[in-house]
Amino acid sequence: MSDLPESTNEKIIKSKIRIQNHGEVFTPKRIINKMLDLPNIREACQNLTSTFLEPAAGEGAFLVEVLNRKMKMVVKNYGDNLIRYENYSLLALSTIYGVELLEDNAQKCVMNMYQVYYEAYQQQAIQHDAKVKKKVLDSAKLIISNNIAQGNFLTKLAPDGNPIVFSEWNPINLRKDGKTIKVQRTEYTLMDILEGIKKEDGDSLSHSVVEQLDLFDSFDDEEVFEKEKKQMKYIPVKITHVYKEEMEEVNG
Ligand SMILES: C[S@@+](CC[C@H](N)C(=O)[O-])C[C@H]1O[C@@H](n2cnc3c(N)ncnc32)[C@H](O)[C@@H]1O
Repeated sequence: MSDLPESTNEKIIKSKIRIQNHGEVFTPKRIINKMLDLPNIREACQNLTSTFLEPAAGEGAFLVEVLNRKMKMVVKNYGDNLIRYENYSLLALSTIYGVELLEDNAQKCVMNMYQVYYEAYQQQAIQHDAKVKKKVLDSAKLIISNNIAQGNFLTKLAPDGNPIVFSEWNPINLRKDGKTIKVQRTEYTLMDILEGIKKEDGDSLSHSVVEQLDLFDSFDDEEVFEKEKKQMKYIPVKITHVYKEEMEEVNG
């Protein structure tokens, strides 16, 4: 391929200030494809369970192309059956993660990922003379919004000062002849992931239910309310049902 100027409709710079403050220059698609074609990376993009994490995702230039490549593999391997396609495309989606500092970029990245997923799924549904399913699209939205985090990769913190949290979507029943996939969701901080810490299956960092218990005070007949925090954990669910975020009480 010759070194022609970049396509004029590809915007790689937003402003000088953003370049100075955040080093924001987006990578042209041509360069991205060259990089993703490198040995091992090319194979990883074709492997539905290999995981990608982009620490400075921008609007998702790399992540979108990784998703495109994985979605092509889903069609190749599972395109003959729409249920299988739905399950394996969500699995492929669940392996792609990103961190981005700036709010507008992080939001655009989420939208770009969803657009790629939606268009690929819609095309498959048409091929099968069927309609896209709300539960599949809702699950795709839930996965993307959890996998693309706004935050600072250097401090590992989100804008509210809390640790960046990611969910692992571990497939627990992958069989060659299987049509549906169940996943176990477990939450990790970005720091946990980088330090190689292993959590209990289903661990949740963000969810606990606050319940009020009334303890009867026998001396003055007054009811005293005490707050108790119940720790919740994610339960294994079909990947097409992750949007429900189903949990159960730990030891409940
Ligand atoms: C050179 S751009 C690359 C964006 C994208 N990877 C691409 O190739 O198009 C760098 C991006 O990193 C973001 N960024 C800068 N510092 C960051 C940090 N500490 N943590 C996460 N993202 C950061 C910027 O906002 C910008 O979107």
